[in-house]
Amino acid sequence: MSKVRVLTGITTTGTPHLGNYVGAIRPAIASSKAEDTESFFFLADLHALIKCHEPEHIHNSTREIAATWLALGLDVEQTVFYRQSDIPEIPELSWILSCLAAKGLMNRAHAYKAATAANTSKGEDPDFAVTMGLFSYPVLMAADILMFGAHAVPVGKDQKQHVEMARDIAARFNHHYGETFVLPEAVVDDSVAVLQGLDGRKMSKSYHNTIPLFLPEKQLRKHINKIKTNLLEPGDPKDPDDSTVFQLWQAFADESQVAFMREEFARGIAWGEAKKQLYELINDELKQARETYRELLDSPQKIEQILQQGAIKARSIASPFIKQIRQSIGIYPL
Ligand code: TRP
Repeated sequence: MSKVRVLTGITTTGTPHLGNYVGAIRPAIASSKAEDTESFFFLADLHALIKCHEPEHIHNSTREIAATWLALGLDVEQTVFYRQSDIPEIPELSWILSCLAAKGLMNRAHAYKAATAANTSKGEDPDFAVTMGLFSYPVLMAADILMFGAHAVPVGKDQKQHVEMARDIAARFNHHYGETFVLPEAVVDDSVAVLQGLDGRKMSKSYHNTIPLFLPEKQLRKHINKIKTNLLEPGDPKDPDDSTVFQLWQAFADESQVAFMREEFARGIAWGEAKKQLYELINDELKQARETYRELLDSPQKIEQILQQGAIKARSIASPFIKQIRQSIGIYPL
Protein backbone atom coordinates (compact mmCIF):
# COMPACT_ATOMS: atom_id res chain seq x y z
CA MET A 1 0.00 0.00 0.00
CA SER A 2 1.43 3.39 -0.87
CA LYS A 3 1.53 5.86 1.93
CA VAL A 4 0.03 9.32 2.10
CA ARG A 5 2.75 11.93 1.92
CA VAL A 6 2.27 14.77 4.35
CA LEU A 7 4.56 17.79 4.15
CA THR A 8 4.82 21.07 5.96
CA GLY A 9 7.38 23.84 6.42
CA ILE A 10 8.14 26.11 9.35
CA THR A 11 9.53 29.55 8.60
CA THR A 12 12.59 30.20 10.74
CA THR A 13 11.86 33.66 12.02
CA GLY A 14 10.97 33.19 15.66
CA THR A 15 11.00 31.17 18.84
CA PRO A 16 8.16 28.64 19.06
CA HIS A 17 5.35 29.59 21.44
CA LEU A 18 2.43 27.73 23.00
CA GLY A 19 0.19 28.65 20.06
CA ASN A 20 2.61 27.03 17.57
CA TYR A 21 2.84 24.00 19.81
CA VAL A 22 -0.89 23.42 20.23
CA GLY A 23 -1.89 24.51 16.73
CA ALA A 24 0.85 22.96 14.61
CA ILE A 25 3.74 21.10 16.22
CA ARG A 26 1.85 18.77 18.56
CA PRO A 27 -0.70 17.64 15.95
CA ALA A 28 2.02 17.26 13.29
CA ILE A 29 4.17 15.02 15.46
CA ALA A 30 1.12 13.00 16.50
CA SER A 31 -0.01 12.45 12.93
CA SER A 32 3.50 11.50 11.81
CA LYS A 33 3.18 8.38 13.96
CA ALA A 34 0.38 6.93 11.82
CA GLU A 35 1.39 3.81 9.88
CA ASP A 36 -0.13 4.91 6.60
CA THR A 37 1.60 8.31 6.39
CA GLU A 38 5.06 9.43 5.43
CA SER A 39 5.82 12.85 6.88
CA PHE A 40 8.16 15.54 5.61
CA PHE A 41 8.89 18.45 7.95
CA PHE A 42 11.37 21.14 7.08
CA LEU A 43 12.84 24.41 8.26
CA ALA A 44 11.90 26.99 5.65
CA ASP A 45 14.96 29.20 6.02
CA LEU A 46 14.87 30.46 2.44
CA HIS A 47 11.34 31.65 3.12
CA ALA A 48 12.55 33.31 6.30
CA LEU A 49 14.76 35.61 4.22
CA ILE A 50 11.66 37.21 2.78
CA LYS A 51 10.63 38.64 6.12
CA CYS A 52 13.89 38.92 7.96
CA HIS A 53 17.27 40.36 7.09
CA GLU A 54 18.93 39.76 10.42
CA PRO A 55 21.42 36.91 10.04
CA GLU A 56 21.58 36.12 13.73
CA HIS A 57 17.88 36.01 14.11
CA ILE A 58 17.48 33.53 11.26
CA HIS A 59 20.34 31.41 12.50
CA ASN A 60 19.10 31.24 16.09
CA SER A 61 15.56 30.59 15.05
CA THR A 62 16.65 27.69 12.87
CA ARG A 63 18.46 26.14 15.81
CA GLU A 64 15.57 26.72 18.20
CA ILE A 65 12.88 25.37 15.92
CA ALA A 66 14.91 22.27 15.08
CA ALA A 67 15.62 21.67 18.78
CA THR A 68 11.95 22.14 19.59
CA TRP A 69 10.70 19.50 17.18
CA LEU A 70 13.38 17.06 18.26
CA ALA A 71 12.79 17.67 21.95
CA LEU A 72 9.08 17.06 21.49
CA GLY A 73 9.77 13.60 20.21
CA LEU A 74 9.79 13.86 16.45
CA ASP A 75 10.97 10.48 15.17
CA VAL A 76 13.62 11.28 12.58
CA GLU A 77 13.85 7.66 11.49
CA GLN A 78 10.19 7.54 10.58
CA THR A 79 9.99 11.03 9.08
CA VAL A 80 12.10 13.21 6.80
CA PHE A 81 13.27 16.26 8.76
CA TYR A 82 15.48 18.72 6.90
CA ARG A 83 16.46 22.30 6.24
CA GLN A 84 15.20 23.80 2.99
CA SER A 85 18.51 25.46 2.13
CA ASP A 86 20.30 22.10 2.28
CA ILE A 87 18.34 20.92 -0.74
CA PRO A 88 19.64 22.83 -3.79
CA GLU A 89 17.08 21.06 -5.97
CA ILE A 90 14.34 23.15 -4.34
CA PRO A 91 15.49 26.60 -5.55
CA GLU A 92 16.22 25.06 -8.94
CA LEU A 93 12.68 23.75 -9.19
CA SER A 94 11.41 27.09 -7.95
CA TRP A 95 12.98 28.81 -10.95
CA ILE A 96 11.59 26.23 -13.36
CA LEU A 97 8.11 26.67 -11.88
CA SER A 98 8.36 30.44 -11.98
CA CYS A 99 8.68 30.13 -15.76
CA LEU A 100 5.25 28.51 -15.80
CA ALA A 101 3.44 30.32 -13.03
CA ALA A 102 1.25 33.12 -14.29
CA LYS A 103 2.18 36.53 -12.95
CA GLY A 104 -1.51 37.30 -12.67
CA LEU A 105 -1.88 34.38 -10.28
CA MET A 106 0.85 35.80 -8.03
CA ASN A 107 -0.77 39.23 -8.15
CA ARG A 108 -3.70 37.67 -6.32
CA ALA A 109 -1.66 36.23 -3.42
CA HIS A 110 -3.01 37.55 -0.10
CA ALA A 111 0.38 38.51 1.33
CA TYR A 112 1.31 40.51 -1.74
CA LYS A 113 -2.12 42.10 -2.01
CA ALA A 114 -2.01 43.11 1.64
CA ALA A 115 1.38 44.77 1.11
CA THR A 116 0.27 46.74 -1.93
CA ALA A 117 -3.03 47.71 -0.31
CA ALA A 118 -1.19 49.03 2.76
CA ASN A 119 1.11 51.06 0.50
CA THR A 120 -1.76 52.48 -1.51
CA SER A 121 -3.66 53.54 1.59
CA LYS A 122 -0.56 55.43 2.74
CA GLY A 123 -0.29 57.14 -0.62
CA GLU A 124 2.88 55.24 -1.53
CA ASP A 125 3.70 53.45 -4.73
CA PRO A 126 1.86 50.09 -4.51
CA ASP A 127 5.10 48.12 -4.74
CA PHE A 128 7.01 50.22 -2.23
CA ALA A 129 9.42 47.89 -0.31
CA VAL A 130 7.93 44.82 -1.97
CA THR A 131 10.74 42.46 -2.91
CA MET A 132 10.76 39.83 -5.61
CA GLY A 133 11.06 37.33 -2.77
CA LEU A 134 7.74 38.39 -1.32
CA PHE A 135 6.14 38.40 -4.74
CA SER A 136 7.35 34.93 -5.69
CA TYR A 137 6.92 33.45 -2.21
CA PRO A 138 4.16 31.09 -3.43
CA VAL A 139 6.39 29.72 -6.21
CA LEU A 140 9.12 28.72 -3.76
CA MET A 141 6.44 27.16 -1.59
CA ALA A 142 5.12 25.27 -4.62
CA ALA A 143 8.63 23.92 -5.23
CA ASP A 144 8.82 22.77 -1.57
CA ILE A 145 5.59 20.88 -1.93
CA LEU A 146 5.87 19.48 -5.45
CA MET A 147 9.45 18.29 -5.05
CA PHE A 148 8.35 15.61 -2.61
CA GLY A 149 5.06 14.62 -4.16
CA ALA A 150 3.11 15.72 -1.11
CA HIS A 151 -0.56 14.75 -1.13
CA ALA A 152 -1.53 16.63 2.00
CA VAL A 153 -0.15 19.92 3.29
CA PRO A 154 -1.27 20.82 6.82
CA VAL A 155 -1.28 24.60 7.11
CA GLY A 156 -3.01 27.47 8.85
CA LYS A 157 -5.90 29.18 7.09
CA ASP A 158 -3.64 31.96 5.86
CA GLN A 159 -1.54 29.50 3.84
CA LYS A 160 -4.39 27.67 2.12
CA GLN A 161 -4.26 29.92 -0.92
CA HIS A 162 -0.56 29.19 -1.39
CA VAL A 163 -1.20 25.46 -1.51
CA GLU A 164 -3.95 26.03 -4.06
CA MET A 165 -1.47 28.00 -6.14
CA ALA A 166 0.99 25.10 -5.94
CA ARG A 167 -1.76 22.86 -7.24
CA ASP A 168 -2.50 25.25 -10.05
CA ILE A 169 1.16 25.49 -11.07
CA ALA A 170 1.52 21.68 -10.90
CA ALA A 171 -1.50 21.20 -13.15
CA ARG A 172 -0.07 23.63 -15.70
CA PHE A 173 3.25 21.82 -15.72
CA ASN A 174 1.59 18.42 -16.07
CA HIS A 175 -0.58 19.71 -18.87
CA HIS A 176 2.36 21.05 -20.84
CA TYR A 177 5.15 18.56 -20.12
CA GLY A 178 3.19 15.46 -19.16
CA GLU A 179 2.17 13.91 -15.82
CA THR A 180 4.96 14.86 -13.39
CA PHE A 181 3.62 16.31 -10.17
CA VAL A 182 1.16 15.11 -7.57
CA LEU A 183 -1.59 17.70 -7.09
CA PRO A 184 -1.37 18.65 -3.41
CA GLU A 185 -4.21 19.51 -1.11
CA ALA A 186 -4.21 21.90 1.84
CA VAL A 187 -5.37 20.43 5.12
CA VAL A 188 -6.72 23.09 7.43
CA ASP A 189 -7.69 21.44 10.68
CA ASP A 190 -10.42 23.48 12.35
CA SER A 191 -10.55 21.15 15.31
CA VAL A 192 -7.17 22.20 16.70
CA ALA A 193 -7.41 25.25 18.86
CA VAL A 194 -6.19 28.65 17.78
CA LEU A 195 -4.78 29.70 21.12
CA GLN A 196 -5.41 33.09 22.63
CA GLY A 197 -2.46 35.12 23.81
CA LEU A 198 -1.88 37.12 26.99
CA ASP A 199 -4.24 39.88 25.84
CA GLY A 200 -7.02 37.56 24.64
CA ARG A 201 -6.31 38.07 20.94
CA LYS A 202 -4.93 35.21 18.84
CA MET A 203 -1.50 34.24 20.19
CA SER A 204 0.89 35.62 17.60
CA LYS A 205 4.39 36.96 17.42
CA SER A 206 3.12 40.05 15.64
CA TYR A 207 0.86 40.94 18.59
CA HIS A 208 3.65 40.48 21.16
CA ASN A 209 1.28 38.46 23.30
CA THR A 210 2.89 35.03 23.18
CA ILE A 211 4.02 32.59 25.82
CA PRO A 212 7.26 31.05 24.52
CA LEU A 213 7.12 27.25 24.62
CA PHE A 214 10.20 26.44 26.64
CA LEU A 215 10.41 29.24 29.16
CA PRO A 216 12.15 28.33 32.41
CA GLU A 217 9.58 27.44 35.09
CA LYS A 218 9.69 30.75 36.91
CA GLN A 219 9.19 32.72 33.73
CA LEU A 220 6.42 30.44 32.56
CA ARG A 221 4.62 31.10 35.82
CA LYS A 222 5.15 34.84 35.40
CA HIS A 223 3.78 34.81 31.88
CA ILE A 224 0.72 32.85 32.91
CA ASN A 225 0.11 35.34 35.70
CA LYS A 226 0.04 38.09 33.08
CA ILE A 227 -2.91 36.56 31.19
CA LYS A 228 -5.67 39.11 31.03
CA THR A 229 -8.71 38.35 33.17
CA ASN A 230 -11.65 40.41 34.44
CA LEU A 231 -12.31 41.94 37.83
CA LEU A 232 -14.48 39.17 39.23
CA GLU A 233 -13.58 38.31 42.83
CA PRO A 234 -12.93 34.89 44.34
CA GLY A 235 -16.34 33.29 44.88
CA ASP A 236 -17.92 35.06 41.90
CA PRO A 237 -18.99 32.54 39.26
CA LYS A 238 -16.91 32.99 36.10
CA ASP A 239 -17.66 32.24 32.48
CA PRO A 240 -15.15 29.67 31.22
CA ASP A 241 -16.00 30.24 27.59
CA ASP A 242 -15.03 33.86 27.84
CA SER A 243 -11.66 33.18 29.47
CA THR A 244 -8.18 32.83 28.03
CA VAL A 245 -7.14 30.94 31.17
CA PHE A 246 -9.81 28.34 30.49
CA GLN A 247 -9.05 28.19 26.78
CA LEU A 248 -5.41 27.38 27.53
CA TRP A 249 -6.52 24.86 30.13
CA GLN A 250 -8.61 23.10 27.49
CA ALA A 251 -5.62 22.85 25.16
CA PHE A 252 -3.62 20.89 27.74
CA ALA A 253 -6.25 19.06 29.80
CA ASP A 254 -7.96 15.74 29.24
CA GLU A 255 -11.74 15.51 29.23
CA SER A 256 -12.20 14.99 32.95
CA GLN A 257 -9.86 17.86 33.77
CA VAL A 258 -11.84 20.13 31.46
CA ALA A 259 -15.09 19.16 33.19
CA PHE A 260 -13.45 19.70 36.58
CA MET A 261 -12.25 23.23 35.71
CA ARG A 262 -15.62 24.12 34.25
CA GLU A 263 -17.14 23.39 37.63
CA GLU A 264 -14.43 25.32 39.41
CA PHE A 265 -15.28 28.35 37.28
CA ALA A 266 -18.96 28.00 38.14
CA ARG A 267 -18.00 27.75 41.80
CA GLY A 268 -16.03 30.95 41.57
CA ILE A 269 -12.41 29.82 41.61
CA ALA A 270 -10.05 32.78 42.17
CA TRP A 271 -8.11 33.89 39.10
CA GLY A 272 -4.85 33.41 40.96
CA GLU A 273 -5.75 29.84 41.82
CA ALA A 274 -6.91 29.02 38.28
CA LYS A 275 -3.65 30.36 36.92
CA LYS A 276 -1.62 28.38 39.42
CA GLN A 277 -3.35 25.17 38.33
CA LEU A 278 -2.91 26.11 34.68
CA TYR A 279 0.79 26.62 35.24
CA GLU A 280 1.11 23.18 36.80
CA LEU A 281 -0.80 21.52 33.99
CA ILE A 282 1.28 23.12 31.24
CA ASN A 283 4.53 22.63 33.08
CA ASP A 284 3.82 18.93 33.56
CA GLU A 285 3.35 18.44 29.85
CA LEU A 286 6.47 20.38 28.87
CA LYS A 287 8.93 19.74 31.69
CA GLN A 288 10.76 16.83 30.18
CA ALA A 289 10.86 18.18 26.63
CA ARG A 290 12.20 21.46 28.02
CA GLU A 291 15.14 19.63 29.50
CA THR A 292 15.91 17.87 26.24
CA TYR A 293 15.54 21.18 24.43
CA ARG A 294 18.14 22.83 26.67
CA GLU A 295 20.53 19.93 26.14
CA LEU A 296 20.13 20.13 22.38
CA LEU A 297 20.72 23.87 22.33
CA ASP A 298 23.93 23.25 24.23
CA SER A 299 25.16 20.88 21.53
CA PRO A 300 24.11 22.35 18.20
CA GLN A 301 26.42 19.96 16.34
CA LYS A 302 24.03 17.19 17.40
CA ILE A 303 21.17 19.05 15.75
CA GLU A 304 23.29 19.74 12.71
CA GLN A 305 24.11 16.09 12.31
CA ILE A 306 20.44 15.14 12.40
CA LEU A 307 19.67 17.79 9.80
CA GLN A 308 22.45 16.49 7.58
CA GLN A 309 21.01 13.00 7.76
CA GLY A 310 17.63 14.46 6.89
CA ALA A 311 19.15 16.26 3.91
CA ILE A 312 20.59 12.99 2.63
CA LYS A 313 17.16 11.38 2.81
CA ALA A 314 15.44 14.35 1.19
CA ARG A 315 18.00 14.58 -1.59
CA SER A 316 17.69 10.89 -2.34
CA ILE A 317 14.21 11.84 -3.53
CA ALA A 318 14.91 15.33 -4.88
CA SER A 319 18.01 14.54 -6.89
CA PRO A 320 16.58 11.83 -9.21
CA PHE A 321 13.34 13.79 -9.48
CA ILE A 322 15.01 17.00 -10.64
CA LYS A 323 16.88 14.93 -13.23
CA GLN A 324 13.57 13.63 -14.51
CA ILE A 325 12.16 17.16 -14.56
CA ARG A 326 15.18 18.46 -16.45
CA GLN A 327 14.67 15.71 -18.96
CA SER A 328 11.01 16.71 -19.43
CA ILE A 329 11.83 20.36 -20.04
CA GLY A 330 14.70 19.70 -22.45
CA ILE A 331 17.65 20.41 -20.20
CA TYR A 332 19.92 17.36 -20.28
CA PRO A 333 23.31 16.27 -21.65
CA LEU A 334 23.74 16.36 -25.41
N1 TRP B 1 4.73 29.66 4.19
C1 TRP B 1 4.59 28.78 5.31
C2 TRP B 1 4.26 29.62 6.55
O1 TRP B 1 4.63 30.76 6.64
C3 TRP B 1 5.83 27.98 5.54
C4 TRP B 1 6.11 27.11 4.37
C5 TRP B 1 7.12 27.24 3.47
C6 TRP B 1 5.36 25.96 4.01
N2 TRP B 1 7.05 26.26 2.56
C7 TRP B 1 5.99 25.44 2.84
C8 TRP B 1 4.23 25.32 4.54
C9 TRP B 1 5.49 24.32 2.18
C10 TRP B 1 3.74 24.19 3.89
C11 TRP B 1 4.36 23.70 2.73
O2 TRP B 1 3.65 29.10 7.46
